[in-house]
Amino acid sequence: MTPSSFSNRGNISSFLAMDVMREVNMLQQTGQDICHLEVGQPSTRAPQVVLEAAGHALDSELIGYTDALGLDELRQALSTYYFKTYKVNVSPERFVITTGSSAGFILAFLACLDAGQKVAVTSPGYPAYTNIIKSLDLSPVAIPLGQENDWSLSVAGLHDAEKLHGTIDALLMASPANPTGTMLTKQALTDLSLDCAQSGRWFFSDEIYHGLTYSQEAVSALQVGDHDGLIVMNSFSKYFSMTGWRIGWMIVPPKMVRPVERLQQNLFISAPTLSQYAACAALTTAAQDELQKHVELYQHNRDKLFTCLQNNGVTNIAPADGAFYLYADLHSLSPSLESETFCAQLLKEAKVAATPGMDFDKERGARFVRFSYARASDEIDRAVDRLNGFLARFQ
Ligand SMILES: Cc1ncc(COP(=O)(O)O)c(C=O)c1O
Repeated sequence: MTPSSFSNRGNISSFLAMDVMREVNMLQQTGQDICHLEVGQPSTRAPQVVLEAAGHALDSELIGYTDALGLDELRQALSTYYFKTYKVNVSPERFVITTGSSAGFILAFLACLDAGQKVAVTSPGYPAYTNIIKSLDLSPVAIPLGQENDWSLSVAGLHDAEKLHGTIDALLMASPANPTGTMLTKQALTDLSLDCAQSGRWFFSDEIYHGLTYSQEAVSALQVGDHDGLIVMNSFSKYFSMTGWRIGWMIVPPKMVRPVERLQQNLFISAPTLSQYAACAALTTAAQDELQKHVELYQHNRDKLFTCLQNNGVTNIAPADGAFYLYADLHSLSPSLESETFCAQLLKEAKVAATPGMDFDKERGARFVRFSYARASDEIDRAVDRLNGFLARFQ
């Protein structure tokens, strides 16, 4: 006899950007030249010193399991990095090395929350947040963001959501955010963190896009008030250009170290060892010099793409302070335009891939598109040329 059904936990939405990427990869295999504006990953390799460190580790290390919490030298290097970057003292013991921040979410939610508890996320927001929350039998509470609240989460927004949905047990947010790139002000971050501390609510601060900012540096939640309910999530995927190395970290309150260690031991044993050795090199000055050039490239790409959209009548774009995305409203082109149709046509006719907003916001996303500008500048140039041609039909 075969079992009759799969679990409800696995019955989550797909990650549309990943579905689009799969389709685009298939089209490319048939020889089509497509500009990848759909997925949030750098087209650059990891920094040279990282590649060398990985080569060296392969030659000289066993590449067995590490301690569940991660290599001591990486946790120490991260502690030093936080002092240099943010001027905060965090002991190496509080760092947990994870298999990308994706595994960090699983560990943190399992350590902090029981089935049925509520986690607030923004809408639009990173789609996997809601999907991971659901798959762990937790309840997502979406807080709507848009032009009306400057695309920024506030304590008032959080309290409004609580009035509607009841006590919220945890808040998960990112600044700079995906899909908007919008950053919270230092004051807003302080207020949210304080509100969580006072209400006994967990505060998960996803800082994965730190380093990728274009006007002011991002503030870590650790800088505005470290407390026993604060968990900082981060990753080597974006700024460090290491998506496929599957390596990230969390900073957890001292009392949470042991529960997370037990979970990691049992769920993942440890994060990928080769990547842990390589990641130590990503935190060195030599790597930073190389990575800073990527930031200049992204800023250049952002300005080109932004100008192209504006010139073609796409005028409502969320403030793109950081990350590598533009989240653009199509209604200024035509109020009846659906982004799924728009993206399908754009791919078919202009060979530019982008992600429909429904991935990020089930309520209002149908009129938005996310364009990623993380690719090389010649690819962005080609995409801009093609977009100019494609968007001309709406004038
Ligand atoms: C906001 C945000 N958080 C987390 C992740 C997951 O990153 P990773 O698991 O590669 O660290 C992503 C990936 O796009 C993201 O945009």
